[in-house]
Amino acid sequence: MVGVVDEAAVEAGIRQAGGELAAALPQGARGPMRALDDRAMDFASQDAELRAALFRFVDVVPACRSLDDLARHLTGFLDDVEDPPQPIGIAMRMGDSRAGRAALGAAAAAGVRRMAHRFIVGQTPREAHGVLRGLWDDGVAASVDLLGEATVTADEADRYAARCASALDDLAAVYAPLPERPLLERDSAGPTPRVNLSVKVSALTPLLRPDAPELGKRDAAVRLRGLLRRARELGAHLHIDIESFDSREAVTELVLELLGEEEFRDGPSTGLVVQAYLRDSPALLERILAWAATDRRRFPLTIRLVKGAYWDHEVVEARQHGWEAPVFEVKAQSDRNFEALTTTLLGARPRVRVAIASHNLRSVANAIAVNRLLGGAPADVEFQVLRGLGDDLQGALAASGQRVRAYCPVGDLVAGMAYLVRRLLENTSNESFLAEQAAGVPLDELLAAP
Ligand code: 2OP
Repeated sequence: MVGVVDEAAVEAGIRQAGGELAAALPQGARGPMRALDDRAMDFASQDAELRAALFRFVDVVPACRSLDDLARHLTGFLDDVEDPPQPIGIAMRMGDSRAGRAALGAAAAAGVRRMAHRFIVGQTPREAHGVLRGLWDDGVAASVDLLGEATVTADEADRYAARCASALDDLAAVYAPLPERPLLERDSAGPTPRVNLSVKVSALTPLLRPDAPELGKRDAAVRLRGLLRRARELGAHLHIDIESFDSREAVTELVLELLGEEEFRDGPSTGLVVQAYLRDSPALLERILAWAATDRRRFPLTIRLVKGAYWDHEVVEARQHGWEAPVFEVKAQSDRNFEALTTTLLGARPRVRVAIASHNLRSVANAIAVNRLLGGAPADVEFQVLRGLGDDLQGALAASGQRVRAYCPVGDLVAGMAYLVRRLLENTSNESFLAEQAAGVPLDELLAAP
């Protein structure tokens, strides 16, 4: 299929689609950094030590029992930063007195909570109702993600599964009375569910370990089957997130095996994730497409193409073991791979449904251009953004008639900490497109081939 798309036509299409999106961006949009313009974040992008100190701090906030405790941790971490910028020096001096520590602790706690609030739509599904309805009013679907991952006990996994099941019920009640949104509810392959829940298999079993993948799969299968049944009864979509590389194989196999079971032939609608930062992602996608070619289920498998959110983890893990990292280490390679996989995926319809999850203007414009060149309708490719990071892009996509879904985490700060740290890493990475966009890089540059 790749061969049928003419490269020059794609480039022209990218410029056109990119121009349409840029024109539809809300006035004054400067990307997600506008909201995260905490000066600490700006410093953190420039200074690796400071970045590390702040992440270690964010990680311990939920465990701190007092403002004094919080301030001691903050100053303890900042102590490792040589040559701190001036405001950090002031914060350090505040740490010298009890009253100073209370003030510093309060400011820091408020800062972390404010940040979390941008990415997390509510502590419970109920608290998220207003946001979900508001998105639907704006022509935006959602995938709700119940925060939690890397479960360590069977009880915890049972509780996560029970929370997911009750979130499905709850979401069904939220979406039932909402007005029709044809672009979000149907594509050329048929109807698509309103209710959409993303789940993490590492939260559905404490036994997901690379050295014993069968054990983890068997344990997770019991809980995942229960959720698939509930989703089918409610006509909901269940999306299985892919996390770090060491569980990727087990999770992908688990999902394909379960979907092959006769009882799931008529539903539910289900999805998987392919991470374009993985060097072996083209081969993985071929395997999934070969599976999809023989799949006779009522709902084609949805594949969400992402760049991948565990880059730092994968690189550190590989270095520790002296392995070659499974991820591309140069961002442009990931971006190029993302475009190639987009073309393969769009060419594989209607065997699969395609969701393109990126905040990169070029990656998104490329998917719009290729979809158009292949004769796809706007509803035949879905764009997905992360709540709090892709809000401006989401608005531009909806305004220009594209189908868009926001990934909306729900849960408390403790459960959400790992998620929050991944978002902060994206925001402060030196090579972050998000940062470039915020800095006002011209459109031509944002749309240039990677
Ligand atoms: C994550 O949890 C969005 O699934 C992605 O980082």
